[in-house]
Amino acid sequence: MGGNELPGTPWAALNRTVLEQILESAVPDDYRCRMDVDVEQRTTDETLAGLATSGIDDIADYYDQWAAGYNRDLTDWGYDAYAVAVEHLKAHGVDHNAPILDAGCGTGLVGRRLQAEGFTTVTGVDVSEQSLKLARAEGHYVDVLQVDLTQPPLPFDDDCFSALLCVGVLSYVSDVDGVSREFARVVAPGGAVSLTQRSDLFVTRSTSEVWRTLADEGLWEVLDITDRRPYLPGNREFDGIDVHYGVFRVNG
Ligand SMILES: C[S@@+](CC[C@H](N)C(=O)[O-])C[C@H]1O[C@@H](n2cnc3c(N)ncnc32)[C@H](O)[C@@H]1O
Repeated sequence: MGGNELPGTPWAALNRTVLEQILESAVPDDYRCRMDVDVEQRTTDETLAGLATSGIDDIADYYDQWAAGYNRDLTDWGYDAYAVAVEHLKAHGVDHNAPILDAGCGTGLVGRRLQAEGFTTVTGVDVSEQSLKLARAEGHYVDVLQVDLTQPPLPFDDDCFSALLCVGVLSYVSDVDGVSREFARVVAPGGAVSLTQRSDLFVTRSTSEVWRTLADEGLWEVLDITDRRPYLPGNREFDGIDVHYGVFRVNG
């Protein structure tokens, strides 16, 4: 068989160059480009929003597989929640050397931002080992641990952090009440907590009511629960899905 022939009986008579010409003439160039984009985006996008209701092993696997491309994809999609959440923390006065917990640190975007803003003592926890490897390698954290936020209690003493962030993670933690109580427990009185919640889950999980109930019980003071803000504007799967930010001061 010559180098240009296709294997297999039905195609044996067709020369590869002839077949390519037939395919190219049948599909206009601009349409072929659109098809390529769709196929490429489907591999990542179509499962991301739905992953919120998956089991912990599937979530960890998904983020393990995605870890190497995560920062690039999130940048492409216009993700800035990590920076906004850090701004909220700064606005409520956290000492630069104070111990901070980044709950669900992933590959370390929040830690990187905190370090750039002069915060020196950040611990990161996440369930994805591959994401943690990258976060550890970047050097923005004093400690990086594998922790499942859905399995309370968190492996930290009461009042041992001065601030806590949890950015882009509560989608995966259906018990908003339980995890929020844990956040309030590990942060010392006067400390700040900066959280995000996806706008669809903000409604279905009654997130605002849950957070305000903790304030009614005296665990924390609500400093702000924002309206909807853009979340992943460049990701079509998130059309119509925004993000809410919550900022709290823990009571004594
Ligand atoms: C969208 S990423 C956000 C990562 C980082 N906070 C950021 O802003 O880039 C969601 C992260 O939550 C982590 N995660 C999901 N469920 C978790 C759980 N039960 N415990 C700890 N981390 C979890 C995932 O592994 C992933 O790294």
